Amino acid sequence: MMRVFGATRRHVVGFISRTIRSVRKIHGDSEENIRFYKSRGQHILINPRILNDIVRSSAINPTDTVLEIGPGTGNLTVKLLQAAHKVIAVELDHRMVDVLDKRVLHHGLSSKLKVIRGDALRTKFPHFDTVVANIPYGISSPLVIKLVYGAIRFRSATLMLQKEFATRLLANPGDSEFNRLALNVKLLADVEFVMDVSKRDFLPCPKVDSSVVIIRPKDQVPDVDLREWRAFTRTCFNTKNKTLGATFKHKRKVMELLKLSNADEDKGKCQSFKEKIVGVLKTGGFEDKRPSKLSVEDLLHLLSLFNEAGIYFNESGKLRSEEDRLGIDNDDNN
Ligand SMILES: C[S@@+](CC[C@H](N)C(=O)[O-])C[C@H]1O[C@@H](n2cnc3c(N)ncnc32)[C@H](O)[C@@H]1O
Repeated sequence: MMRVFGATRRHVVGFISRTIRSVRKIHGDSEENIRFYKSRGQHILINPRILNDIVRSSAINPTDTVLEIGPGTGNLTVKLLQAAHKVIAVELDHRMVDVLDKRVLHHGLSSKLKVIRGDALRTKFPHFDTVVANIPYGISSPLVIKLVYGAIRFRSATLMLQKEFATRLLANPGDSEFNRLALNVKLLADVEFVMDVSKRDFLPCPKVDSSVVIIRPKDQVPDVDLREWRAFTRTCFNTKNKTLGATFKHKRKVMELLKLSNADEDKGKCQSFKEKIVGVLKTGGFEDKRPSKLSVEDLLHLLSLFNEAGIYFNESGKLRSEEDRLGIDNDDNN
């Protein structure tokens, strides 16, 4: 009897959750039948108070061009259009774009909106002043890096993120959440906490809570080759809780750096190159240090010591063109 009831209950729960994901969405100004896909991070923000708070904290000027990643059905977009000069919205799902277009037309705001249909990670962003977005969480890490390490100078990015991801981004050296992504962002930007947002403010309700943060690019950034920096931090954070001595003495790492530094690769050279690496770590007092406890300044200092000793982390590490400074890859989340 229990088993029959259990099966029936599962059936009902399954039916309800399918129905919720395919809600008849009521925006007040339009009604749409739309099925939301978890795989595309389609959790629509439905609490008007939170939407207003996001727009308020992003301090949009009437002259601003706002970039929105993943406008969905436009709950945030309409408010951004009312506050800004122009909104550029990048959306992957053409069904969402259709709803968005209709809705914005209904509000008489179409002339202010430019929609780019496509993947935000593959789209070359046009100029924008500020980013405001409830982003799909699956692309948080590469998207944050694309913005912070990208070529466009912008004032701020107000982003809704998964709470755990936001906590990592806000972490400082020594915090257990501190990771390579937080370090790489810290090099070029400051991150400020704005508010926590409950999962109940979204439809369909996700499994995780969220937080809003503001990322502000720094005015003054260190004079470091960004590709070289990111290759260096990738090595340091390979295993973030190991000491740098243990990480850098690894034979495979020594061979890799030997190649990248254009040194000869015979056996004797490998041994002396390893001694050179260890020498640099010892000189700077870094051998027993763990990367997750070091500040941006500490790690910049270590990188400069390596480079001065002719040890490089990236093939173009010795080049200093603007192009080389702007490398983007997707593995910052260590
Ligand atoms: C969390 S929903 C946000 C919807 C809306 N901004 C809101 O707050 O109600 C994320 C949106 O991003 C879109 N999306 C997912 N992956 C994307 C990508 N790689 N590039 C652009 N848009 C994407 C989804 O289709 C979805 O509309």
